[in-house]
Amino acid sequence: MNLAPWRSILARSLYKSRNLRESRYFQLATVTPEGYPKNRTVVFRDFLEQSNQIKIITDSRSEKIEQIEAKNWGEICWYFSKTREQFRMGGELTLVGASYPDEDLQKARLQTWQNISDAARMQFAWPTPKTARVEDTEPFSSPTPDPTMPLDTFILVLLNPQVVDYLTLRGNPQNRTIYRLTGEEVWEVQEVNP
Ligand SMILES: Cc1cc2nc3c(=O)[nH]c(=O)nc-3n(C[C@H](O)[C@H](O)[C@H](O)COP(=O)(O)O)c2cc1C
Repeated sequence: MNLAPWRSILARSLYKSRNLRESRYFQLATVTPEGYPKNRTVVFRDFLEQSNQIKIITDSRSEKIEQIEAKNWGEICWYFSKTREQFRMGGELTLVGASYPDEDLQKARLQTWQNISDAARMQFAWPTPKTARVEDTEPFSSPTPDPTMPLDTFILVLLNPQVVDYLTLRGNPQNRTIYRLTGEEVWEVQEVNP
């Protein structure tokens, strides 16, 4: 597997911002079945091994799931304030849930579950997101989930970038590059006006 040409640039941005927690957050946009945009902040959970796919985790009961099931395309918008760079990455989304058939992706799901904190795992046992809050703390204090066995609500989301729009505010004029996947591991790279 060849790393996509934008990977080294993103790796450098991540490295330079390694002590800024928020540099590992980005916005993930999807569309509703009615065609409206929806976005939300999520955590970068690294790349899937031997691939350019970006790992995100989410709850099977969250609204983004039905949006992705209806239209499996998403766009990430990621700004690195320290280096003043923006990456917008569009691509297909894959939902790897408990019954996803691919063995390697199941392994990746399990490994990701094992790598997150107890506090993060606990959230997957919380009551259903966006249902009315009941003033009772009991439902939020279920036992700590087994770190070796992902809960069914735990979904590994993969975004496979096909278009990357990289903008760096450094320089006057600023610099912008478009990377487009045009074939199996073939990327077209074009410098464009900012
Ligand atoms: C800093 C930060 C990090 C977040 N990380 C995640 C995440 O990794 N996965 C996730 O599903 N939601 C995450 N959320 C919550 C989402 O932004 C969102 O509220 C939730 O996923 C419900 O979105 P939905 O209704 O569009 O599915 C995070 C929120 C913040 C503020």
